[in-house]
Amino acid sequence: MLFAQISDTHIAAPGERPHGVAPVGENLARAVACLNRLDPRPDFVLLTGDVTNGGALEQARHAARLLDDLDMPCHIVPGNHDDRKTLASAFPQQVVGQSPGGFLNQAFDAGPLRFIGLDSTTPGQPGGAFCEARAAWLKEALAERPDAPTVLFLHHPPLKFGVLETDADGFDGAAALARIVAHNRQIVRILCGHIHLFAHGALAGVPLTCAPAASGMRLALDLTRRAPSAFHLDDPALLLHKWTDDAGLVTHHLYARGDEPAHPFQ
Ligand SMILES: [Fe+2]
Repeated sequence: MLFAQISDTHIAAPGERPHGVAPVGENLARAVACLNRLDPRPDFVLLTGDVTNGGALEQARHAARLLDDLDMPCHIVPGNHDDRKTLASAFPQQVVGQSPGGFLNQAFDAGPLRFIGLDSTTPGQPGGAFCEARAAWLKEALAERPDAPTVLFLHHPPLKFGVLETDADGFDGAAALARIVAHNRQIVRILCGHIHLFAHGALAGVPLTCAPAASGMRLALDLTRRAPSAFHLDDPALLLHKWTDDAGLVTHHLYARGDEPAHPFQ
């Protein structure tokens, strides 16, 4: 089976560009067109948060209009730039989950895989969070199909990647999440966004992938963590994840650039 991931679309109001320069609406339209052109077509898309740039209903509705052109379902978890209420209101119930406590968690099955989306946000806070209520929900969701290879997806990576966005913002409850991952060996991958970089790590031995930004706002990598947070303007990027029983989950990175000339190696 094949599914795609986009992240950090940061949609502003129609005609507006975040920070005055980022053509986020055009970039999401390019990402959607790219996804619709893929052959074979992904079964669905995961959108790992920061759908909007500021959480306003107008922004969420604009994102919903742009994503309406997708020829496949889209499953969304919120990011720290989103607002749970406006996100839930702008998107149909089937793509934005809900669980006790108002968290936008969701779980669904697709082919041999189980997908569990975790709401890692705290209103008004830039960092990630995993509290007791979310832990209880996650344990239940994992117990429903303990033998199914499972993909966790959430906005914030519960790891320090050496950049301000993870090291300074932090992830409250990362150790508790790592303990649950360690006890549920059916989890095959953790998919995140937030840092606007294609980057990899591991949590309790399980590979963790951060998606690049579909907004094209690629984080200016500063491992000294002294420079203020900044971004480069890049092409919108996305990930394709392919599951096979023998290889497990294989991930490809691609840019939504439209038709590019292909040069033969011979
Ligand atoms: Fe973001």
